[in-house]
Amino acid sequence: MPTFKVTVYTVRQINLEKMDDIYLTLLDSEKQSSERTLVDRSWFSSFKTEFSLDIHVEKNIGNIVQVKLEKHKHNHPWFCEHIKVQTPSGDCFEFPCYWWLVDENEVMIREGTARLPQDDTKSFQEQRKDELESRRKIFRWKEWSPGFPMSIDADLNDLPKEVQFDLEKEIDWYCNFMKVGVYLGLKKFEGLVESWKDIKDIRQLFEVLGTLGHKVLGLDDFSSVTNVCSLSRELDLVPFSGNHVYKMIVCQFSNFKQKLYIQTQLLQETSNDVMENWNQDYMFGYQFLNGCNPVMIRKCMQLPDKFPVTQEMVKRFLKTGHTLQQELQAGNIYIADYEILKGVPASSSQRYLTAPICLLYKNDLNQIVPIAIQLSQTPGETSPIFLPSDNGLDWMLAKMWVKSSDFNVHQLVTHLLKTHLFSEVFEMAMYRQLSAVHPVYKLLMPHVRFTIAINAEARVKLIGKDGIFSKVASISGDGMGTLMKNAMETLTYKSLCFPEDIKARGMEDVPKYYYRDDGKMIWEAIHCFVSDVVKIYYDSDEKVQKDEEIQGFVNDVACSGMNNSANFPKSLESREQLVEYLTVVIFTASAQHAAVNFGQFDWYAWIPNSPSTMRKPPPQKKDQVDMKYIMDSLPDRDCSSMALATVWALTQTEHTERFLGMYPDMYFTEQPVKEAIKTFCHRLEEVTNIIKIRNGGLTLAYCYLSPDKIPNSVAI
Ligand SMILES: [Fe+2]
Repeated sequence: MPTFKVTVYTVRQINLEKMDDIYLTLLDSEKQSSERTLVDRSWFSSFKTEFSLDIHVEKNIGNIVQVKLEKHKHNHPWFCEHIKVQTPSGDCFEFPCYWWLVDENEVMIREGTARLPQDDTKSFQEQRKDELESRRKIFRWKEWSPGFPMSIDADLNDLPKEVQFDLEKEIDWYCNFMKVGVYLGLKKFEGLVESWKDIKDIRQLFEVLGTLGHKVLGLDDFSSVTNVCSLSRELDLVPFSGNHVYKMIVCQFSNFKQKLYIQTQLLQETSNDVMENWNQDYMFGYQFLNGCNPVMIRKCMQLPDKFPVTQEMVKRFLKTGHTLQQELQAGNIYIADYEILKGVPASSSQRYLTAPICLLYKNDLNQIVPIAIQLSQTPGETSPIFLPSDNGLDWMLAKMWVKSSDFNVHQLVTHLLKTHLFSEVFEMAMYRQLSAVHPVYKLLMPHVRFTIAINAEARVKLIGKDGIFSKVASISGDGMGTLMKNAMETLTYKSLCFPEDIKARGMEDVPKYYYRDDGKMIWEAIHCFVSDVVKIYYDSDEKVQKDEEIQGFVNDVACSGMNNSANFPKSLESREQLVEYLTVVIFTASAQHAAVNFGQFDWYAWIPNSPSTMRKPPPQKKDQVDMKYIMDSLPDRDCSSMALATVWALTQTEHTERFLGMYPDMYFTEQPVKEAIKTFCHRLEEVTNIIKIRNGGLTLAYCYLSPDKIPNSVAI
């Protein structure tokens, strides 16, 4: 009797010993099938991640093209990674699954070769339609809050199992949770609403953190299951079910301690530099190029009427003998305009927000330095233009105001909207429109991992009604909606194409713009990889036009996810357009998110450098503020410590992080794609080396876009 040898791969899961009955059936292209075979239950209690079974077939069935998995009863969900089938003649076929079997259901797993819908047989085309129809019932669009792009119609607690954190990520998230930061050292500032005495006084926060590294090495709070349980209660964290999960936390705590130790030491290096030099104009200017929000600055060839800076005001800051007009024409003047904040209300009557404009200059030392700041969009007597020659306190406060506005725009627009929420739109459209056997589904899956889950967390813990953001920042609730609306109205698809964005902002030739230099190399690497993959499946532009699933995907992104944005393509006509589109999706989820996420601790830890909010109105006249006014403007002690703990938590990577190009899940089974992945990894290694060598010669290394530090997806 012919025998097929089947190996099933899964992951470590809790409660496997209580697993329901699982049946497995092999099917050939004529829908002839093997016997429906019950998986031996003893396997589930063995805690192994792979098991084999022999399936005997009486009749002569052909090539196996599908495996049907059925789960009976409905006790525990079960995750199947993939299945390998060895035929009686010794040939092997892979069946990637990576799907949860929840309650009582069945999954049909196609053989791994990716196929476009039009290349499939009629009956498989029908099956694909059914697959997508049932996915669309799970992944429904919803406008979480007016002004926001669409997201998933599910709360944190009822997310589809497929998009939830896995156990390891959940434990990592748990360990990194911001309250741990507070618990470890910043708790002493909790509830203290007084202002800091002076700038030096804020160092207290750093002193706590400075000694934190040493403290954690001796810390044994997580060294026993009892301690972990009591700590979770104390921190009000959602408890995990089962002691074995706490045991895993205990096991991982030594990793966690080590990471925290290293980070607090690094913090001292990077942030010491920020702490020492934050008020220097070159350091202020540097952050427009290589800080957390390197996308606001643009070349200014002509001053806008609303910002009437004169030659007289700035001549002493320009190269000797040069006029402002000459410098504008020479391309040495830059601008950061926060017009997007115009009309956005502050979160409370004790918080203030404005929409400043900052003029910057490329000086003789090739540094970008500020030369004029206006703290509103309306010039006039009550909105003077502040200059570096003003008294020190006026100029310092003006810069703080710009950085505070920048903090809010960065968090909500550059970071949340343009990486987190856009990636969720792409992820949703992928689930709704692309069959699991579509090559683009296989290509994008690693780049949307945990994105819906982290966003669902953020909607509750960060940007929700009582979330952290409402406590530390200037904008919440209605203000967020207005800002999102402003951002969506000015958004263009082309601005997500990295090289086009650099060009549109006139930033192609500014020196020391490492975000641009590194970003371009990564964009190129992703573009080449995507192009290699697209070429394998599409041999003509017509194939793109006739691919209903791809057209449905692009259309769903524009018409549903992006609220019918006129600036997003609703269809794709050529392979070139498809390659660019997919490069946007992958670049946004990986490199762009890394560039705007992982510098938060470096640049925001020192509160005066980037106040998360301002508690006094912006000055309307020069020479009127004193140090007390400035300290009363900055976040109070409680708010500062909360902001610090938050940015610490948000800059963590998982201890088993999957960095750019790492594809441990085998969605693709064909050799040409495996070759393309190899080439991609090789290119990324080269980019990592180039960046490493460049950084060796810099006082302040730029590491956020080093491929070995860029996670594949938005997951923090
Ligand atoms: Fe993030």
